[in-house]
Amino acid sequence: MDDHRRKLILFFLILASGVWTPETHLLLGEYEEEAPVRDTNAYFMTGNNTVINVQLGTTAALRCQVFDVAEHETVSWIRRKDHHLITVGDKIYSNDERFQVTHSDHTQDWTLHLHYAQLHDAGVYECQLSAHPPIGVFTSLNIIAAVAEIVGGSEIYVQSGSSVQLTCTLKHFTEPPTYIFWYHAHHMVNYDDNARITVVNGPEQSALRISQVTKGDSGNYTCMPSNARPASVSLHIITGETPAAMQKASANEVQCHLIMALLSSLVALITV
Ligand SMILES: *[C@@H]1O[C@H](CO)[C@@H](O)[C@H](O)[C@H]1NC(C)=O
Ligand SMILES: *[C@@H]1O[C@H](CO)[C@@H](O)[C@H](O)[C@H]1NC(C)=O
Repeated sequence: MDDHRRKLILFFLILASGVWTPETHLLLGEYEEEAPVRDTNAYFMTGNNTVINVQLGTTAALRCQVFDVAEHETVSWIRRKDHHLITVGDKIYSNDERFQVTHSDHTQDWTLHLHYAQLHDAGVYECQLSAHPPIGVFTSLNIIAAVAEIVGGSEIYVQSGSSVQLTCTLKHFTEPPTYIFWYHAHHMVNYDDNARITVVNGPEQSALRISQVTKGDSGNYTCMPSNARPASVSLHIITGETPAAMQKASANEVQCHLIMALLSSLVALITV
């Protein structure tokens, strides 16, 4: 007991002399810091950590529904990768003019619109409420590049006088294109007077039909949807022989050359 008291007195003497200043946790022991209480009644109705897929070049709409936002509180949008403050309330802070925010009092919604979404816009966006400490919900934006594809490869062979159909299918589309144009070289053929050419558009494809093809129809055809990477094919018009017949012909030619070579060497031998 006495020993303990002596130790305590010594301890306080050292403390008083200022030689040694213990850190508070040495005196009080380890303790867990309590999470500060968030001073807000507001709550999010939008799901957290949601993922949205948006087609390249279209408008992305990132929703954020917060109820019971107090007078002194604001709802902001922040791009996480560079901590870029996009909006505060209904004001735009970003100088990227593609951003727009719409607020509805009725639905308590602050939707961020991003027009002409580009590949580099992909990433996480936070809708943040200015409580203490702030709280937010996150939305991951994926940008999908839609592409056109022409069925049957990049080279198509057609017999002169027959008809051909070029079918363009659309891949990775989240929104249908407003138009699909077909080009023959640099000339758009959709609205041509040419009765031999018709364009039939389906929900996820477009078909270009050419009947009674002639040499003049050969060349580069491009399918160009309004909102996707275009696709091209080279159309070859064959007259008379089919490619298989042409191959056989060239094989015959080789044989012919061989016989000719043999004959001429024979002739050479005889004349020697
Ligand atoms: C949303 O999720 C993140 C973690 O991904 C979290 O930090 C944040 O507090 C969550 N927001 C809400 C409103 O629960
Ligand atoms: C066909 O035309 C398109 C569009 O003009 C071009 O991008 C493509 O390279 C052309 N293809 C060929 C094989 O010439």
